[in-house]
Amino acid sequence: MATPHNILVTGGAGFIGSNFIRYLFGKSTAEGDLFNDADFSGTVVNVDCLTYAGNLENLADVEAEFGGKRYFFEKTDICDSKEITRIFEHYNIDTVIHFAAESHVDRSILGPEAFVKTNVTGTFTLLEAARRYWTKDGSMRNDVLFHHVSTDEVYGSLGETGYFREDTPYDPRSPYSASKAASDHLVMAYHHTYGLPITLSNCTNNYGPYQFPEKLLPLMISNIKEGKNLPVYGKGDNIRDWIYVEDHNRAVWLIVNKGKRGEKYNIGGENEWQNIKLLHKLIELTAKETGKSVEEIEKTITYVKDRPGHDKRYAIDCAKIKNELGWQRKMTFEEGLKETVKWYLKNTSWIENILSGEYKNWIEKNYKEQGR
Ligand code: NAD
Ligand code: DAU
Repeated sequence: MATPHNILVTGGAGFIGSNFIRYLFGKSTAEGDLFNDADFSGTVVNVDCLTYAGNLENLADVEAEFGGKRYFFEKTDICDSKEITRIFEHYNIDTVIHFAAESHVDRSILGPEAFVKTNVTGTFTLLEAARRYWTKDGSMRNDVLFHHVSTDEVYGSLGETGYFREDTPYDPRSPYSASKAASDHLVMAYHHTYGLPITLSNCTNNYGPYQFPEKLLPLMISNIKEGKNLPVYGKGDNIRDWIYVEDHNRAVWLIVNKGKRGEKYNIGGENEWQNIKLLHKLIELTAKETGKSVEEIEKTITYVKDRPGHDKRYAIDCAKIKNELGWQRKMTFEEGLKETVKWYLKNTSWIENILSGEYKNWIEKNYKEQGR
């Protein structure tokens, strides 16, 4: 198994991708020294077309210190085959870590087309470029890797009991999860058909710094700060399993370095929360940090129309990555959530830049009735 040297990271300006690049360059935002173990000395090429979710502010310090030396940014759409091929050749890419995607379930319900384009055609375009570039004298190289970052949502929805395992049959139920499932199948197909060295990971809900504030936790923190409504879908009894973003990224890096080629690994926080219970916890923490009253914030909880096809419960069995690769999450939920709340309250200009841009019009157009 070769050591990754010239890595193409797609979607590196988004939430998880930017945290991943920060992790590789020893720029973890977590307090203390929990996540400074990447031990990477190579080059990263960040390919991102900067959709509404891409934000180069997330990497300003990485760019300042490593830009043009070990870090390169290419503003490119992953569906652009010619440009992607040029990038493989120019940087002599030996490893792809593919984060780029349309990632928000609600947006996939409002407009599924972009999801099929980026998540399916984009992944296909990357796989084709990798296959062409890594085939030498008619044979596929075995010292290269295409790692695909995916989601637990491909497995569908759980009832009150049970866990998703790596062999759980796929049963995606939203346009987002269906497009991610399609991309997972393409990645596996390229391994079985062309011998492309691949690994794949399916992770639960991430939280932490730099998450776009349309997602539950940053949305709620930001709305609490602004005194706005806290929109809870349905009865608030859906369950998600939460993992700190850098624990996810450490798992991805471990799979890239030690994972068995051709295999998939589930990653989870073993940390299930009903949405409404999580919101109460978040209110308590945010009240403490802002000096606001818990009772006043609680009054802003607003039950709104449920998400169509809202998956009831996600929960991951991550025994495989724990037993085979020795992965273990490092961040406790108590600490991670506290740090996350503090991060969003402190980084006011980061969030204000987003809230005052095109996102503001999008919210007004699509969520007027929720009083967001
Ligand atoms: P995000 O929406 O925050 O970031 C996505 C990034 O991809 C953005 O920077 C965007 O500009 C870029 N992008 C989108 N379309 C592109 C295109 N056509 N070409 C180039 N770049 C493009 O997403 P995220 O939450 O960071 O998720 C990253 C990956 O992890 C996704 O594949 C997602 O399915 C997966 N995932 C996310 C979670 C989660 O909880 N957020 C959990 C499990 C898996
Ligand atoms: O499970 C992994 C997935 O987690 C990733 O693949 C997705 O990219 C990521 O967006 C996330 O999907 P969810 O749909 O679970 O995340 P979201 O933050 O949108 O919602 C979390 C839960 O909170 C979900 O049950 C819906 C609910 N919710 C969400 C929002 C935005 C609300 O009740 N109110 C809200 O305003």
